[in-house]
Amino acid sequence: MQAPSIGVVRFMRGVRARGFLDFIGELWGELGDVFQVRVGPKTLLFAMHPDAVEHVSVTQRQRYEKQASYEAVRQYLTGQGLVASNGELWRRQRKLLAPFFTPKGIQAYAELMIRDGARVLERWQQLSKDGKEVEIAEEMAAVTASIILKAMFSSETMESIEQMKSAVETMVAFVSARLTSFPLPLWVPTAGNRKYVAARDLVHSAISALIAKRRAAPEAGWPDDLLSRLMRAKDEETGQPMSEILLRDESITAFFAGHETTARTMTFAWYALAANPQVTARLHEELDRVLGGQLPTVEQLRSLPYTLQVVKETLRLYPAAPFYARDAVSADTLQGFDVKPGTAVMLSPYYTHRHPKFWTDPGVFDPERWTREREATLHGHQYHPFAAGPRICIGNNFSVLESHLLLAILASKFTPRLRADYQPRWEMQGVLSLANGLPMTIAAR
Ligand code: HEM
Repeated sequence: MQAPSIGVVRFMRGVRARGFLDFIGELWGELGDVFQVRVGPKTLLFAMHPDAVEHVSVTQRQRYEKQASYEAVRQYLTGQGLVASNGELWRRQRKLLAPFFTPKGIQAYAELMIRDGARVLERWQQLSKDGKEVEIAEEMAAVTASIILKAMFSSETMESIEQMKSAVETMVAFVSARLTSFPLPLWVPTAGNRKYVAARDLVHSAISALIAKRRAAPEAGWPDDLLSRLMRAKDEETGQPMSEILLRDESITAFFAGHETTARTMTFAWYALAANPQVTARLHEELDRVLGGQLPTVEQLRSLPYTLQVVKETLRLYPAAPFYARDAVSADTLQGFDVKPGTAVMLSPYYTHRHPKFWTDPGVFDPERWTREREATLHGHQYHPFAAGPRICIGNNFSVLESHLLLAILASKFTPRLRADYQPRWEMQGVLSLANGLPMTIAAR
């Protein structure tokens, strides 16, 4: 049976009038949990039910790969890095990288997360005295970029952090634009193409120079960061180290996949706290009781369960990656509907996380959903902010540790406040975004 579907004209009109995010929500209300959009020769099939997430990501995953939907990301950003690779290469690389991202593996980065969080405290001290509005999304992007670049490359100077951050952001913006427009080939010297090529060359040459510098030095003196770990890693079967190109691709991949997503999660947490004063009060109570005004240690995180519940609820209501795609490589039936090979199946954390059959008051920000008892009663796939199955985000532990620490450090001393008339305008811009930003004043507690 064919899933209910709409054509390209209605789709484009709807997206133009309502924005992609809201229009997909309207179609879901009108057409049900599975529906198709035909855009030229391409079919996008949206599937919102947790059973569909399980089907595509776990039980029938051999029928779905990351192919055409990931071509622009592969070609212009991550090459054969983990986000967009497939088959044997993906399997080998995932196995090689997995140990660095286990809960134990990421402990190595907790100290630098705490140090960078403490730097933001100093900066916010001044901002709270000035009383001026700041753009919280930028504050959070700066700290998450600094953390991931230090974790990967031990980049310590602000200049190198800022340069790399803005170059990769240019590359990401270029890819997002290509996905939503009809771009000219790269050899046409448009301003956009030239800017992308300059950014890409800067990123590639900076990483190659870092690798060359390390190779020229005795291994014992290499800094303890992700790049050194990747350079030392050897394939279990062949005993071979990673090629320089793959080292570069995996480094760009980790930055691309991990920086903006974590920055947005923290930004949305500040919005949710400002909009829900009773949650903030509960959070402050826990932080004051456990930390007593001091910086947290990693060990203390276990005693800050409510802070973690706030992070989890932020990832439910405002998942940084609201959609992700899988390309069908063979015919399938999904929840009773035909899936033809070549169809891009769109899974949506944003809408599965608001499914009224699975969540009570889905629109309400309620960290109480994440007590251990209540979490144990959930359908295994009704919550998938990091995707699901073998291709689940490899950085999920890293980013949850980072958000847990940053929230504990910053919320224990400061309360960012919204203008009274602020209304969020949520939209999809590659990642979930606030079209009108999040200007806030920082109040010291
Ligand atoms: C709140 C933060 C994050 C969110 C919401 C998030 C979300 C996701 C999602 C939804 C996917 C699946 C994407 C797809 O299938 O197209 C994914 C994959 C991935 N993420 Fe994350 N991510 C976050 C943080 C991170 C961090 C910090 C890193 C690395 C340091 C990272 C590295 C990756 C990688 C390498 C993949 C590809 C995994 C594979 O295909 O085997 N992510 N992430």
